[in-house]
Amino acid sequence: MTTKTAKIGSRRLSVRDMAAQKNTTPIVCVTAYTAPMAGFMDDAVDLLLVGDSLGMVLYGMDSTLPVTLDMMIQHGAAVVRGSKHACVIVDMPFGSYQASPAEAFKSCARVLAETGCAGVKLEGGQEMSETIRFLTTRGIPVMGHVGLTPQSVNQFGGYGTRGKSKAEARMIIDDAEAVADAGAFAIVIEGTVEPLARAITAKIPVPTIGIGASPACDGQVLVTEDLLGLFSTFTPKFVKRYAELGKAVNRAVATYAADVRARRFPAPEHCVAAKPKP
Ligand code: KIV
Repeated sequence: MTTKTAKIGSRRLSVRDMAAQKNTTPIVCVTAYTAPMAGFMDDAVDLLLVGDSLGMVLYGMDSTLPVTLDMMIQHGAAVVRGSKHACVIVDMPFGSYQASPAEAFKSCARVLAETGCAGVKLEGGQEMSETIRFLTTRGIPVMGHVGLTPQSVNQFGGYGTRGKSKAEARMIIDDAEAVADAGAFAIVIEGTVEPLARAITAKIPVPTIGIGASPACDGQVLVTEDLLGLFSTFTPKFVKRYAELGKAVNRAVATYAADVRARRFPAPEHCVAAKPKP
């Protein structure tokens, strides 16, 4: 448990608590898509992110682009139900917020009202700053996401590291500043060269949460299935595996299968004996 957690006690953490962690205790964030996983992780972390990565991790999609607003709402509501301590943020899926600030407001309002989450995350920099301002001045807390933005995979032609050239690094700094200035309470920096994420963290007044970014960020996020060894289709260099649960699942199910085939399961203790009628 973090010192922060102990101080705050049983109250659920809010976006203001996250913002207050700038330059203090690092924000610990993991993705969560289901109620049981949210429950297992709730007291160990500050922030549960219902990421649109669920399209790839849970549904086997090739990218996050086919994820729908209804999917995010179902999974967001499950994570809120399964947790009581962590601040829960839900990703806005591709196509639900880019067309106009008004459309973004309608989509985000549905997410807030139908999941009970604390705020939303959306991808984009300077081009999204008008929308972020529109949302944050109308009661919708927004977490930004700059650098490698997976919903723009077709534009960038892949998931390569961003900010390698001076011009691109300058643009990502401007993106982060525009998003912070528009009222975002925190910003995810994904897949950039390390010095760039460090420089942005020093420059902007809101917490940065890094993934493939820098240890200097104000917090870190990983996809839970990556850190637990439950997703192996693609493992980026920045992932550290803390467990190999996928292998443990395979071993457990193979043992079960062997027991069934050898008629060792179910054993008498797993069966209900017929009680003689009085
Ligand atoms: O969708 C997601 O899980 C994310 C995190 C990896 C930051 O956006």
